[in-house]
Amino acid sequence: MEKFVIRGGKALSGDVVIGGAKNAAVAILPATILAADKCLIENLPCISDVMASLQILSELGASIRMISKNTYEIDTTHIDCTEVSNELSRQMRASYYFLGALLGRFGAGQVAMPGGCNLGPRPIDQHLKAFTALGAEDSVEYGMIRVRSNHLTGGHVFFDTVSVGATMNAMLAAVKAEGQTILENVAREPHIVDLANCLNMMGADIHGAGTDVIKIRGVKELHGCNYSIIPDQIEAGSYMVAAAITKGDVMLHNVIPKHMEPITAKLRAAGCQVEEFDDSMRITRTGALKPLKIKTMPHPGFPTDMQPLMTVLLCLAEGTSIVTEGIWENRFRYVDELIRMGASIQVDGQVAVIEGVKQLMPAPLRALDLRAGAAMVMAALAADGVSEIDETVHIERGYENIVEKLQGLGADIRRVDTPVNAVTRAM
Ligand code: EPU
Repeated sequence: MEKFVIRGGKALSGDVVIGGAKNAAVAILPATILAADKCLIENLPCISDVMASLQILSELGASIRMISKNTYEIDTTHIDCTEVSNELSRQMRASYYFLGALLGRFGAGQVAMPGGCNLGPRPIDQHLKAFTALGAEDSVEYGMIRVRSNHLTGGHVFFDTVSVGATMNAMLAAVKAEGQTILENVAREPHIVDLANCLNMMGADIHGAGTDVIKIRGVKELHGCNYSIIPDQIEAGSYMVAAAITKGDVMLHNVIPKHMEPITAKLRAAGCQVEEFDDSMRITRTGALKPLKIKTMPHPGFPTDMQPLMTVLLCLAEGTSIVTEGIWENRFRYVDELIRMGASIQVDGQVAVIEGVKQLMPAPLRALDLRAGAAMVMAALAADGVSEIDETVHIERGYENIVEKLQGLGADIRRVDTPVNAVTRAM
């Protein structure tokens, strides 16, 4: 077990290279199953969710060759198993993408039924609705969800709610289904477009990704490809907040400024200066932070995964901010940690009202989930003194080398081993 020890109060400056997008990678890796061939996937972030996906592929029968830390060759030709074990599928929430990919290639797939999570209920009814529209049946047995079909055919799906996961799973299942599939009211996140681009490079026929209607004409076979994953919008946004909260000056490399627009717009409104270049961005802050109203929404709205990070920033704004969570039922649990640092926040259901304070005080903190954990890092970077963050395993699930990257920007942060009983006592 590890914790982060952070001495805050230093302005961050310098350059940071953003890694590949976690939420694209966890769908593109299962997608390689559909190729039944060799795929070279580049710009994979070196994080535990990616390692878990590679392990699942390997257990299903794929050959995996590491070319470099961020590039893997995956040969899915000889996959002969359609069941992801309970133990492996529970290592990561996004293991449900293996259902769509296995169903698309073999007409059958099985993973552990995802339960609720720290963010609230996590149903997959919309994923199953899409599979049913393509002619598949599903059943749940001993905690495992199984889908099967003797013959997948194109279908018309109007999603009841905009879901990133259901959109991508439907695409995975439909690319080889016979005939045309039309998916309406789909998610439009950059990672949806990335998955469509990757599948199209494998020979799929997908149009409309990035709009709210996706049309897929089923093809008989797909083939291998070389594909480089897009940069991670949320990792980039997190380093923007790190610069903003410490009154820093940071240049981000390997970013797509267009993908950052919902975040950039809010940071500018909060008083930060953001310059955009081809594949880099510079963020600085010199003046006071201004309060904001933010509501999280599906893309191109403000992303829910940035909500905890922006809330921390707004704790130090001059005035009252209102942050409304529009996606998840339970994404303000971390607020109690901030209150212990001197923040003034009132949460009523999905709405947080934040009265800006002059400073945050250091405190012992917990990373309750991935983005809440990243938000704690931001708070600790701003607080004048030493804070310790426990349960950092959640943070490392989604941020490649976060400690090293922050050190590169001048932050005083280090990883320290925690004896297991010390953590248990703290809880
Ligand atoms: N929903 C349903 N039924 C479904 C699917 C979703 O009601 O069948 C609801 C959810 O309960 C939620 C909303 O629809 O209220 C949106 O859920 P979505 O399916 O879009 O979320 P997801 O695909 O499970 C991905 C990211 C999350 C991110 C959300 C929203 C991955 C692996 N996860 O989850 O990322 O918050 O989209 O953008 O792609 C994170 O990276 O920290 C993270 C939690």
